[in-house]
Amino acid sequence: MDKLRIVGGQPLEGEVHISGAKNAALPILCAALLTERPLSLENVPQLMDVTTMAKLLGQMGVEIGARSGGRVELRAARLDNPTAPYEMVKTMRASVLVLGPLLARCGEARVSLPGGCAIGQRPVDQHIKGLQAMGATIDVEHGYIHATASRLRGARIVMDLITVTGTENLMMAATLADGITVLENAAREPEVVDLARCLSAMGARIEGAGSDVIRIEGVASLAGAAYRVMPDRIETGTFLAAVAAAGGRVHLLGAAPGTLDSTIGKLREAGARIEVAGDAIDIAMERRPDAVSLRTAPYPGFATDMQAQFMALDCVARGTAVIAETIFENRYMHALEMQRLGADITIQGNMAVVKGVERLQGATVMATDLRASAGLVIAGLVAEGETVIERIYHLDRGYEGLEKKLSALGAEIERIR
Ligand code: EPU
Repeated sequence: MDKLRIVGGQPLEGEVHISGAKNAALPILCAALLTERPLSLENVPQLMDVTTMAKLLGQMGVEIGARSGGRVELRAARLDNPTAPYEMVKTMRASVLVLGPLLARCGEARVSLPGGCAIGQRPVDQHIKGLQAMGATIDVEHGYIHATASRLRGARIVMDLITVTGTENLMMAATLADGITVLENAAREPEVVDLARCLSAMGARIEGAGSDVIRIEGVASLAGAAYRVMPDRIETGTFLAAVAAAGGRVHLLGAAPGTLDSTIGKLREAGARIEVAGDAIDIAMERRPDAVSLRTAPYPGFATDMQAQFMALDCVARGTAVIAETIFENRYMHALEMQRLGADITIQGNMAVVKGVERLQGATVMATDLRASAGLVIAGLVAEGETVIERIYHLDRGYEGLEKKLSALGAEIERIR
C-alpha cells in the first residue's frame, strides 16, 4: 500500500490549478442514466471515486468513452442491469446516487445498502422516504434496496434533515416523474446547483436549486448535453488551509471563489491575506496563524469536509480553538493521529478543543478517510522532521495529484510505493 513521506517546514510558493469537483462529478455521471442520448462532460477529475463510478455505470450497460484531459462521454442507450452491488457500494457510498435515476428510467433499481462508514452512521432513509412519496414500492431485502415503480409521480417532499446526495437522488428521479415535485428543506450545496444545471442542459425543468425549496416539473424524456463540471471547492479550501498553516504565497487558478465564503472568512480570521479576482484566488500568510473556532453546518455554513484541514491549522495556531462537528458523529479520527504528532486536542462528544502548540513533530500516522488524510497532510507540512502517512488510498479517492501539486509549490513530499 502506498504511503506519503513529508518533511515539514517549507512555506508554499507558486501557482496551482484546481481540478473539477469530485462531489459534483459523481452525481453528474449518474445523470447519464436518465437519457439514452450521449452526455459529454468536461473537467471531470481523475480520481479513484470517478473510476469506481464509471465501472459501476459500465456494469449497468452505460457505454463510456476513453477519459482524457478531464473529458468523458457517457451513453446509456440501453440499461440491462439496474443493480449496484455490495462490492461497489461498500467502497464508495456515493454509489447510492444511481438509485433515483435508475428507478426513474428503468422502473426498477437494486442498490446495496451502504452499511457502516468511518465517519458516522450515514443512513439513506431520506432517499427511500422521498422515493416512496413519489409512488415507488421499496423493499429492503438481503441487504439490498429493491425499488420499483411503473412511473414515478410528482410529490411534495419535506426532508427531515438536510442531505446532499438525498437531495440529488430525488431531484434526478423527479426529472422524469409524472407531474411536479417540490423538495423542501433541500440541500443548498453548490454541487446540487451544478447537477441541476447539467440536468437543465439535458432538458429538465428545475427551479430553486441553491435554495432550500427545489421545484421540478417532470418531462417524458431527457436529451443529451455537453457540460463542464464546477471547480472543487474542497480541494481549493485544502490548498488555502495548507498555505495558512505552513505560510507562503500561492496563486490558485480555475477555482470558484463564490462557493468558498465561509472558508475564506475563517482563513482571514486566522490572519491570511486573501484576494479574489474572477476564478483566481491569491493567498499570502507571513506569520503563525491565529486559532479559529468553527462549527460545521450545511452550506453556506462551514463545510464538514474542511473540518480536518482546519484542525491541522489550529494545532499550530496561536491560541485555543473550539470545533463543533454537527454533520457526522464520528469525524474526529484524525485528531488521534494529530496527537501522535504532538498536537494538544481534547475531544468531548462532537466538540474538540485544540490548544495551539509552537510546532508539531513528525511521526508515522494513519489516514482513516479522505478529508482526515488531507488534514494529516497539512499537519505533516507544518511538523518538524519526517511524517509518514499510511493508507493514502483514501487521498487518491478524492484529490487529483495532491502530492504532485504540493511538491510543485515547494513542499518536500513524496509517494512511497
Ligand atoms: N442522513 C440521514 N439520512 C439520510 C441521509 C443523510 O440521517 O437519508 C444524515 C447523515 O448520516 C449525516 C447528515 O445526514 O449525518 C448529512 O449527510 P448527507 O446525506 O448530506 O451526506 P452525503 O450526501 O452522504 C455528501 C458528500 C460528503 C459530505 C456530505 C456533507 C458526496 C458524494 N458526498 O455526503 O463528502 O461530507 O455530503 O456535506 O457528495 C467527502 O467528499 O469526503 C465527503 C464525505
